[in-house]
Amino acid sequence: MLTGAGISADSGVPTFRGTDGLWKNFRAEDLATPEAFERDPRLVWEWYNWRRELIATKQPNSAHKAIVELERRSPNFWLITQNVDGLHRDAGSQKLSEIHGNIWKVRCTGCGLVENNRNVPIAILPSCADCGSLLRPHIVWFGESLFVEDLDCCSRALRQCDVLLVIGTSGVVHPAAGFASIAKQAGAFVAEVNLDPTPQSALVDISLQGRAKDLVPLLLDPA
Ligand code: OAD
Ligand code: ZN
Repeated sequence: MLTGAGISADSGVPTFRGTDGLWKNFRAEDLATPEAFERDPRLVWEWYNWRRELIATKQPNSAHKAIVELERRSPNFWLITQNVDGLHRDAGSQKLSEIHGNIWKVRCTGCGLVENNRNVPIAILPSCADCGSLLRPHIVWFGESLFVEDLDCCSRALRQCDVLLVIGTSGVVHPAAGFASIAKQAGAFVAEVNLDPTPQSALVDISLQGRAKDLVPLLLDPA
């Protein structure tokens, strides 16, 4: 399973693209790149703090919950999510790669220590309890590579899966944008759930249009 911001849209978390998307009002270059953090860490932290405040009020929805049940029922299940909101974990998902990181984790720019931090608001600027260096969000920003262990895990899952379900992603951010085609080439049946057609729609075996919260639970009880 591969998920994107669309699955959390049904919990009230804003998506990135589209008419109400975050990238309509904010420039990714100013907020979600290592250069932006170097230039103005306070601005970047204020933006992440605003998102923390927003996400802290949101709950997993029926689609997140259905995915937990699919994990329980399927011995070789794996979930790859681009979402950093932590709602899959909150719902109970355990077999997952959060390939873009997690907004509730911080990483030390000095010693590299990764820690959970659910402070809302978080102290700006936050510093490492161990070495005193500046902490950054444990998020994979534009221009940064995925963590090697996540890449390995994803490529194994995509090459071995019989079925890949792609939910609520615009399919334009790499490397996740290439995952459907990797699975397809490896012989998987690929299905997509999205409100709208996407660049992936032509490639997949079946493209279902609708809300994740309505369609994903149907997988549990197709009759
Ligand atoms: P996008 O905002 O690009 O796309 C969200 C997709 O969800 C769109 O295709 C919508 O049509 C669809 N959608 C919206 N509401 C839906 C609903 N209720 N049910 C089903 N589908 C719905 O989000 P992502 O594809 O996740 O990176 O974006 C990928 C990455 O770009 C993000 O992880 C983020 C961003 O910059 C980082 O945070 C590093
Ligand atoms: Zn440190």
